[in-house]
Amino acid sequence: MEKFKRLLSNKDLGKVIDIGTRRGEFLFRLKEYGRSYDELIGIDTNEKEIEALRAKEEDNIHFYKMDGYSLDYPDEYFDTVALSNTLHHLNDIDGMLKEMLRVLKKGGYLVINEMFHDNQTPARQTHGLMHILEGEIDTELGKVHNKTLTKQEIIDLIDKLGLKSFETAEYFETEEYDKKVQKKYNKLNDMLLSVKDSPKYNNFEEKAQKIKKNYEQHGIQRCEQLLIIGEK
Ligand SMILES: C[S@@+](CC[C@H](N)C(=O)[O-])C[C@H]1O[C@@H](n2cnc3c(N)ncnc32)[C@H](O)[C@@H]1O
Repeated sequence: MEKFKRLLSNKDLGKVIDIGTRRGEFLFRLKEYGRSYDELIGIDTNEKEIEALRAKEEDNIHFYKMDGYSLDYPDEYFDTVALSNTLHHLNDIDGMLKEMLRVLKKGGYLVINEMFHDNQTPARQTHGLMHILEGEIDTELGKVHNKTLTKQEIIDLIDKLGLKSFETAEYFETEEYDKKVQKKYNKLNDMLLSVKDSPKYNNFEEKAQKIKKNYEQHGIQRCEQLLIIGEK
């Protein structure tokens, strides 16, 4: 987390929007670790998550149900536009990045945070493999949940945007998040049960066995993540 904090600590974030905010965790991290901010807005297509965030609203902190592909804001409205762990939940990544750049002021910050699945320690591989399986099962159930990207694939996506500059930091999560992935691992069998009638069940089951073996040998920790902060 130290690298994450360092990259943010000299940034005056101004008016911020976090797309795909879910429980607002990333938005509140920007609030905590940025040098300053004026206003924080979190949006998500999931109405339930947005309703649950109402209790956390303040005069300059708001949450709205909104689609990140077509934001209800004029061009160059925000000083900071963020997207965290959502790239692999999108069918049109380029379309989302284009919309993010539309609402970002010239000189503003584009913030991308995303877990990646390559070059992980064995314990983190347990999480990486489990997350890929979760994506495959979600896809089977009709949700948009693609395979997580490699670190280089994430960098390549940002590289082609023609930003003035960008900085990167790879970092490990806090123990609190390691406990969260442990809880998720404990529900691996329930995840499998949700697709018990699928013709792909045997394939999913085989992958789950591999994950369990890896877990027994190495345990589980949350995958390393990549934070990118670019300047438009
Ligand atoms: C894995 S969660 C990420 C949550 C949070 N940003 C984080 O870093 O933990 C992905 C979120 O993106 C939201 N999402 C997916 N497509 C979206 C879209 N087109 N516009 C806004 N939110 C979207 C989902 O509803 C979900 O809450």
